[in-house]
Amino acid sequence: MYTQLQMRGAARPPVTLSTLRKMREDGEPIAALTCYDASFAALVDEAGVDLALVGDSLGMVVQGHDTTVPVTMDHIVYHTRAVARGLSRPFLVADLPFMSYASTEQALTNSVRLMQEGGAQMVKLETGAEQLRIVEYLTGRDIAVCAHLGLKPQSVHKTGGFRVQGREQEMAQKLMRDARDLQSAGADIILLECIPRDLGKAVTAELDVPVIGIGAGPDTSGQIQVIYDILDVTPGRKPRFVRDFMAGNGTPLGALRAYVAAVKSREYPAPEHCF
Ligand code: KIV
Repeated sequence: MYTQLQMRGAARPPVTLSTLRKMREDGEPIAALTCYDASFAALVDEAGVDLALVGDSLGMVVQGHDTTVPVTMDHIVYHTRAVARGLSRPFLVADLPFMSYASTEQALTNSVRLMQEGGAQMVKLETGAEQLRIVEYLTGRDIAVCAHLGLKPQSVHKTGGFRVQGREQEMAQKLMRDARDLQSAGADIILLECIPRDLGKAVTAELDVPVIGIGAGPDTSGQIQVIYDILDVTPGRKPRFVRDFMAGNGTPLGALRAYVAAVKSREYPAPEHCF
């Protein structure tokens, strides 16, 4: 009972939502990474990563699909359970995959699965104005929610490709409005993917909750990357925002430590990683 209370004085107390909120308040960048199995989870933990996401990007980097669309609830639950076994300090977030949150009841049932079967502490869903009701429904039932905005890979067949979002003024204004509304609906973290750095900065300044970016510039409250991208495992051309942290750092653990240090010092992302 109250294990987290007992561990508060420990050398490496677990990261909670309160820790992440305080980091935002204190201006300490949050270092986050995706993770899909127990071995990498142990390295992520050891390297000092604050938040681990079992992302549906596993459909592309683990399963070899072209998109995240084929990923199912069973896949995410399986990988979340594996990651949870390898972690002790980082906050654990799991993705709700494609069409697993089409209604409020379905979103609730599947979030409960991620938490009870997987061990997740927060769920993430790709959002916009259409998901406000769902976010409100989940947070109203004390489920911690990360709302993903900007480039939404689950919508790629509808939007026509993996492209930078929010370049046009109208789209930037819509994204800002959605971010505000999602925070009001109870979202605990906003994640911004692939947007111009000025928009990432403006959204972060506007909100009170932690804002974590991937390809959203250096001014968000934290950064997240796909772990295989920064370890130079992912084959082929990488997105502009990816830096190869294996270069010059020897081992995967060395590379992950370098990533955390570069995020914390705001040395990463540099101008060449931004839109
Ligand atoms: O699924 C995923 O890995 C993600 C990241 C790109 C943030 O959503």
